[in-house]
Amino acid sequence: MKIIEVDSYEKMSALAADVIAAQVITKPHAVLGFATGSTPIGTYVALAKKCREDGLDFSDITTFNLDEYCALEISHPQSYYAFMWENLFSHINIKKENVHLPNGMAADIDKECENYEKMIEEAGGVDLQLLGIGHNGHIGFNEPGDSFISATHRVDLTQRTIEANCRFFENDLNKVPKQAITMGIGTIMKAKNILMLIRGEDKLEAMKAMLAKEVHPSCQASVLQYHPNVTVIYTAN
Ligand code: GLP
Repeated sequence: MKIIEVDSYEKMSALAADVIAAQVITKPHAVLGFATGSTPIGTYVALAKKCREDGLDFSDITTFNLDEYCALEISHPQSYYAFMWENLFSHINIKKENVHLPNGMAADIDKECENYEKMIEEAGGVDLQLLGIGHNGHIGFNEPGDSFISATHRVDLTQRTIEANCRFFENDLNKVPKQAITMGIGTIMKAKNILMLIRGEDKLEAMKAMLAKEVHPSCQASVLQYHPNVTVIYTAN
């Protein structure tokens, strides 16, 4: 893994936007994997600026998001669908039909997971996957456990994740969805390139576990050690 440490969130965001822009420029039909959370917001702002001011062209780009809550309407402001449109998609010239997030409201969640996996494959796989990391080392919503789950699947969120996300749901634990659909570890590992953003000293423990000698499902991100092309950008601020 290539690890780049920068001294500000602004630099992290600018650098990450440059990496994504390079992918868009060199492969206009690229498939991008996007992530939610507070960490990539600056990157999305920078990408929107590149589109608006420099003509960075997303018109042939296809995207797949890592995850989505179950049983939360997409019109809910905290759905990942709403997050992505608010923070990125509304500000770039991407075609709506080229944007994909798992449908957490699907009547048959297992079928939805299967379809999502198939759609990624049919699109040719993800060229560049953006990732954040949870305090417990989760990537997407692949929570710590006894194994790595390969394909897109439904997941029960851990108490730690529910508590971490509580701030987005009026600090009311009852309002936080308890399940989500997430790309699996295999889905993520199939991406040709991975760009992970880590912000804050509170994530150092997770980063350490990710880089520890032993690859173990108790830190799902540690599996990235087996990926040939991972770049991590870290900033303490
Ligand atoms: C959520 C998302 C993850 C993200 C994580 C960290 O749990 N499912 O994909 O990496 O949050 O979010 P933040 O960047 O806000 O710390």
